[in-house]
Amino acid sequence: MTLQVSVIGTNYLGATHAAGLAEFGHQVIGVDIDVDRVKTLNAGQSHIFEVGLEPLLERHTASGRLRFTTDYAEIADWADVHFLALGTPSGPGGAADLSQLYAAVDTLAPLLTKPTLVVGKSTVPVGTAMALEERLRSSSPAGNAIEVAWNPEFLREAYAVEGTLRPDRLVFGTHSRHALELLEEIYAIPITDRVPVIRCDIATSELIKAAANAFLATKISFINAMAQMCQAAGGDVVLLADAIGYDERIGREFLNAGLGFGGGCLPKDIAALAVQAEQLGVDVLSDFIRSVEAINAGQRTELAELAIDQAGGSVAGKRIAVLGAAFKPGTDDTRNSPALTVADQLHAAGADVRIYDPQARLAPREGFTQVASVEQALLGAEVVLHLTEWPEFRQLDPERLGDLVRSRVIIDGRLKLHAPTWRNAGWKLVQIGRANSL
Ligand code: UDX
Repeated sequence: MTLQVSVIGTNYLGATHAAGLAEFGHQVIGVDIDVDRVKTLNAGQSHIFEVGLEPLLERHTASGRLRFTTDYAEIADWADVHFLALGTPSGPGGAADLSQLYAAVDTLAPLLTKPTLVVGKSTVPVGTAMALEERLRSSSPAGNAIEVAWNPEFLREAYAVEGTLRPDRLVFGTHSRHALELLEEIYAIPITDRVPVIRCDIATSELIKAAANAFLATKISFINAMAQMCQAAGGDVVLLADAIGYDERIGREFLNAGLGFGGGCLPKDIAALAVQAEQLGVDVLSDFIRSVEAINAGQRTELAELAIDQAGGSVAGKRIAVLGAAFKPGTDDTRNSPALTVADQLHAAGADVRIYDPQARLAPREGFTQVASVEQALLGAEVVLHLTEWPEFRQLDPERLGDLVRSRVIIDGRLKLHAPTWRNAGWKLVQIGRANSL
């Protein structure tokens, strides 16, 4: 059955979710306070670089199933279900800042006059959904006829469309039969395709998302700690990850050692979980997460120090080439990017940093020159850093590039370059965790 659905918030999460729901056959209106973004989306264009999103937006703005507005009055009583897809950035001390969610429900509540289901998708501290429900009920003419459910999103940038259309699993946190049935109707297509569904209480659904992120971050920090061990003891962390990854209980994914995790989600979501665990007196969890974070931060610092070493003990006044600015390949997102932290640290140490990324556009900032090609980045460089593993960097020709640099030294911060090819072309290639590569 076709439902009328609103999606409030149209950034990575909301824009993809809105387009995905239109693809599932529903009538969808996306809402955002950003006038320019709404204009772009209504033209069937995407304001972000995300594989497959623009074709979906184009198709469904044209089919009439999808449109965007800045006006909550258009969606309030029109929609059978409202999704909240707003950002929950890091607030003071690392706790989640819920102000965008609160602002959205405060705008929506007075406009709701009929029984309504409001479904949260954002990653939030446990307890948020019930707080939002109370807030909605107390300031809406519909009062207790408003209900909140939680349907966390596991969206991964660069795979967002695929993940929305064919999710690994769906989580429905509800406290009524009616809410559950509506969610089952919205997701009828993936449910028919046998996507596993976890039906649970709302607190569990909020915690599931936090736990998934914390576990992924843990995997990455674990393998990075093993990379340190390999470095110290003379081992190869890539082969180690391959070998343990064959054990199905472990799995090879998220065992790529290197610069660690960044982005708009993992770092802030695990920080918020640690803060809440602390508040609830669950110190075992907050201490655990703090170690995961410390290992992650350490990888960045170590890489910057390695670059300084390779430049002969100081980078002051020296040109350093940085390949990659996005927090991972396949996206133009530079939020909490490990590559930029390293670049910042080298700039602070006096380096002249030239940075190239195929997609990310950096706002002009002190200390970096963003250049338009790998060649421009490498020209005159004392050390080259490979910090975001875009596939095109694996295709580079070390022989040709060798003529551009001052010295043929490259640090592969993501352990993805083909070492023999670079070494045969006379480069010193350094990878942390592949001890025999130093
Ligand atoms: C993540 C989660 O995957 C997603 O489920 C959640 O909803 C939001 O956070 P995303 O931030 O898009 O998604 O990025 P992801 O692909 O998970 O990568 C996170 C970071 O970890 C990147 O900086 C990446 O480079 C790094 N990473 C990932 C590693 O260092 N090693 C790995 O093996 C995998």
